[in-house]
Amino acid sequence: MKLYACPKDENNSEREYENMDDKKTGFTSKLGFVFAAAGSAVGLGNIWRFPYLAAKYGGGIFLLVYIVLAVTFGFSLMVTEIAIGRKTGKSAVKAFASLDRRFSFIGYIASAVPIIIFPYYCVIGGWVIKYLTIYFTGQGAEAAADGYFDGFISSPVSPIVFTCIFIFLTAVVVLMGVQKGIEKVSTVMMPVLVLLSIGIAVYSLTIDGAWEGFIYYIKPNFSDFSIKTVVAAMGQLFYSMSLAMGIMITYGSYMRREDNLEGSVRQIEIFDTAVAFFSGMMIIPAVYAFSGGDKDALNQGAGLMFVTLPKVFDTMYGGKLVAAVFFVLVLLAALTSSISLMETIVSIFSDKLKVKRWVICVCVMLISAEVAVPSSLGYGIWSDVKLLGRSILDFFDFISNNIMMPITALLTCIFVAFVIKPKTIEDEVERTENFRSKKLYRIMISFVCPVFLVVILISSVIGYV
Ligand code: PHE
Repeated sequence: MKLYACPKDENNSEREYENMDDKKTGFTSKLGFVFAAAGSAVGLGNIWRFPYLAAKYGGGIFLLVYIVLAVTFGFSLMVTEIAIGRKTGKSAVKAFASLDRRFSFIGYIASAVPIIIFPYYCVIGGWVIKYLTIYFTGQGAEAAADGYFDGFISSPVSPIVFTCIFIFLTAVVVLMGVQKGIEKVSTVMMPVLVLLSIGIAVYSLTIDGAWEGFIYYIKPNFSDFSIKTVVAAMGQLFYSMSLAMGIMITYGSYMRREDNLEGSVRQIEIFDTAVAFFSGMMIIPAVYAFSGGDKDALNQGAGLMFVTLPKVFDTMYGGKLVAAVFFVLVLLAALTSSISLMETIVSIFSDKLKVKRWVICVCVMLISAEVAVPSSLGYGIWSDVKLLGRSILDFFDFISNNIMMPITALLTCIFVAFVIKPKTIEDEVERTENFRSKKLYRIMISFVCPVFLVVILISSVIGYV
């Protein structure tokens, strides 16, 4: 994958880079790297997925567990992936292979994850485009009505059309290789998104009855704690930080050797978690307010953002305009993430097949559109189809986040702890600066992470299947 990289020639393929003796040309600045990685990390996972999981799994307790996991697990895994990438200068499969031939299979498992996520990610992206068009055509009030969202996602054709538009937009960017433009756009857009989210979040709190919801969101209630909270928070962490799927390895391969790796990881983490936090604050207190404190309303799942936010905008002075701007930003955030997903898939195949890049792009686009159809229909005419007791989209989400990513993460930890040894990673981090969290890192990667991941995997298999 070459996203955002190579300032000189945007159309160079990965393979061309690898023929170079020197390391690939990479980001021109540390900030460029941080923004590019944050562009992949911050997306629908933060704005759409985090709030509904937090609402469902106990509010404050989920938030607490998530933050603890982010600064321990998330940190250690992200350091590992970026360091592996920077050290080897390669993307997942080849990176593992170049460290130890026998372990390239970890790279293959990691690479399968974006292939599963991409189609259903585009279904949600399609919903965002639909809401964007609603606000641009002045139908905001209708969107705030009860049942509007369910009516939309259960219709057979319209959501699929919007999904295809989203896939098409993603494919156009990937095809044209306008990554540098995107890097610029996201540098401006990300801070605006954060500010707007804070503004909407603060407004949400002023709605009658929202305060109680805010308390639910930030105050941990330990009686709500269960292993399910941890499993869900962990899955969300992988997803949101684009971990355990090889993406951060690729980004690391573009990072300059002279930049501070540990500091960059902290920044990406803070950014990603802040956007998630404010998205929850935008949505959860408002759900409380509109449902009159009915906790069942928090359990709506995937539709939470699309059902609640239109109601917030409807009561807000100038809400329609705010809504239009908001959905544009969400769309851009979603696109920067989906582009990184599609780029990864395209580069996996162009590394393996001797076919032109654009042909692969078009094939990935067409196949993804087809694979996305069942996920979309799963909310409508195929709602009777249940895989492991869940809707089709939820099934793909579950398999990737709760099964495959923990497996990849576990294998990565074992690989670092026993094969290449933590010192290899630590040395890479210490190229520039002292590794301040070295002790934490070592304990996490060699003991805590593997043990914990095994527990998570077992419980997610037993508990859910
Ligand atoms: N991290 C992105 C988000 O939060 C989703 C994503 C997953 C993007 C995997 C790229 C790779 O929306």
